[in-house]
Amino acid sequence: MVIAVDGPSGSGKSSVCRAAASELGAAYLDTGAMYRAATWYCLQQEVGLDDHDAVEVAVEELPLNISTNPDHQVITVGQADVTEAIRDASISENVSAVATNPKARALLIASQRGIIDREGFIVAEGRDITTVVAPDAQVRVLLTASAEARLRRRGAQLGGTQDAEALKRQVLDRDTKDSAASNFTEAADGVAVLDSSDLSFQETVDSLISRVQLAQGAR
Ligand code: DC
Repeated sequence: MVIAVDGPSGSGKSSVCRAAASELGAAYLDTGAMYRAATWYCLQQEVGLDDHDAVEVAVEELPLNISTNPDHQVITVGQADVTEAIRDASISENVSAVATNPKARALLIASQRGIIDREGFIVAEGRDITTVVAPDAQVRVLLTASAEARLRRRGAQLGGTQDAEALKRQVLDRDTKDSAASNFTEAADGVAVLDSSDLSFQETVDSLISRVQLAQGAR
């Protein structure tokens, strides 16, 4: 069974999906981490991110390994463990260069489909999983949260030290950049919306799990 989850940054998607996969005994795939690792590799190889052809070549040869264990996420590029490095602001700022490159996307999507097929029982999350990567998934969910809730969570994540206006600009800028690569703000046909704005973390996980159990019962 494939569980496909999309949503904007700050919706709590990654932590919710990881926790749900862990409770379900399923594998977990963070596709955003793959775009991030590809960006890390381009920067490391000093590939000009405006050079579309060079980005394509870099993604084609990307020696990426991503674990699918929800309790132990390790991402390597060649010999380098990039698990932490791909969360750096320099990656977040540059990742849209890879995410908006059609050939790079096609390569990463093919690799994501391979991982999903190999695992069979998996929670895969990103921006285009319910629509492009795994449109036939048995469970398809768009995990949303209001802009206010996402700002609140992001602020808390950063320890509440950021200027409110700067934070808002950052989160909204990120939405604009991300939506250039894929439309993840509206649920496609057959995709259920799970709005986490007024739910606790565990309530959100439970809601996702109950959708999976419902689908399992229907099989
Ligand atoms: O979820 P995240 O913030 O780690 O995603 C990193 C970037 O990759 C973000 O800019 C959106 C992009 N992305 C994408 O275009 N398609 C996906 N399936 C996952 C992420």
